[in-house]
Amino acid sequence: MPFYHKLGKIPPKRHTQFRKKDGNLYYEQLFGTIGFDGMSTNSYHEHRPTMVKEIRKQYSVKPKIAKANNIQSYRFRGFQVPPENDYLESRKIVLTNVDCNIILAAPKQSTKDYFYKNTDADEVIFIHKGTGKLRTMLGNLDFKYGDYLVIPRGIIYKLDFDDENNRLFIVESYSPVYTPKRYRNWFGQLLEHSPFCERDLRRPEELETYDEKGDFLIKVKKQGEIIEMVYASHPFDVVGYDGYNFPYAFSIHDFEPITGRIHQPPPVHQTFETNTFVICSFVPRLYDYHPNAIPAPYNHSNIDSDEVLYYVDGDFMSRNDIDAGHISLHPAGIPHGPHPGATERSIGETVTEELAVMVDAFKPLQVTEEAMKIADEDYYKSWLE
Ligand SMILES: [Fe+2]
Repeated sequence: MPFYHKLGKIPPKRHTQFRKKDGNLYYEQLFGTIGFDGMSTNSYHEHRPTMVKEIRKQYSVKPKIAKANNIQSYRFRGFQVPPENDYLESRKIVLTNVDCNIILAAPKQSTKDYFYKNTDADEVIFIHKGTGKLRTMLGNLDFKYGDYLVIPRGIIYKLDFDDENNRLFIVESYSPVYTPKRYRNWFGQLLEHSPFCERDLRRPEELETYDEKGDFLIKVKKQGEIIEMVYASHPFDVVGYDGYNFPYAFSIHDFEPITGRIHQPPPVHQTFETNTFVICSFVPRLYDYHPNAIPAPYNHSNIDSDEVLYYVDGDFMSRNDIDAGHISLHPAGIPHGPHPGATERSIGETVTEELAVMVDAFKPLQVTEEAMKIADEDYYKSWLE
């Protein structure tokens, strides 16, 4: 995050002696990104964070590709992804390219007997259904419906759910996830025209510290494989840290929509940016107020982006027959637009209750076998009159 955060106990000066009550030193760890140039956190541990006891096994979780070169528009029925007990096994990659994975998951159980660390990618977890607590080595975040949880790569975490009814839309990004640059000044502060500000970004305020030795399993994702590593000390043994690199939460309900007299383009909905895709939030808002405005979007051909819309809640004015949990994929190279009747239907409307998350990927997305299990193969003909 482009602002400073401090939690727990830290010494007054970095890289100096910081001792426990018994006189022994805490173990300092600089946790950085982009070499030593990106955001970093300086944390203090009860035990060495390097005590690997055993590497048990390694297996691929790479997606199986059904359509590598796709120009067909699809609808995927996301809620048809079956719930599974285990969090990692529940994660189904539906769309993928060299920059990101788009994942649907319906985990029934909390992560109990292992910890998870993604070394490949930052993760943005959108909570469609479910409440609970994200537990990390750098503190905890409560979550509920509508939250984005942004977890930078390398953060060790667990997800605790309050019950079995959970639906997650997850984006893994191989480049860092930031807030949009145009909404920040040269110090990183969010500007007045930003649709959200620092007060809306929830940072960890609760730090759990376990001074325990034993066998602690961390499932580490690296280059599309899970590597099961056993550590000799509890991964959540941080007594304090400060810096800029930590997980945070942002609720889609705190996104303040930007509206206009005529139809505003998708960038006004932008919430996060990376070098390779953007994430946008479509939230309830007043419609365009020019007397002759057409609130429905015009046909558009974003020749450079594959557009993925995940429908969350409300009425999706531009689409016929779209429900919560559905994903539409409108690939680069061909135009798409409102369904027949949607333009006329929108005229005179003053407000929309739609809630959706959009991912615009700059490189083409491949469709996986998991996606084909929930695909509507005829969706691409849905504009025929
Ligand atoms: Fe679009």
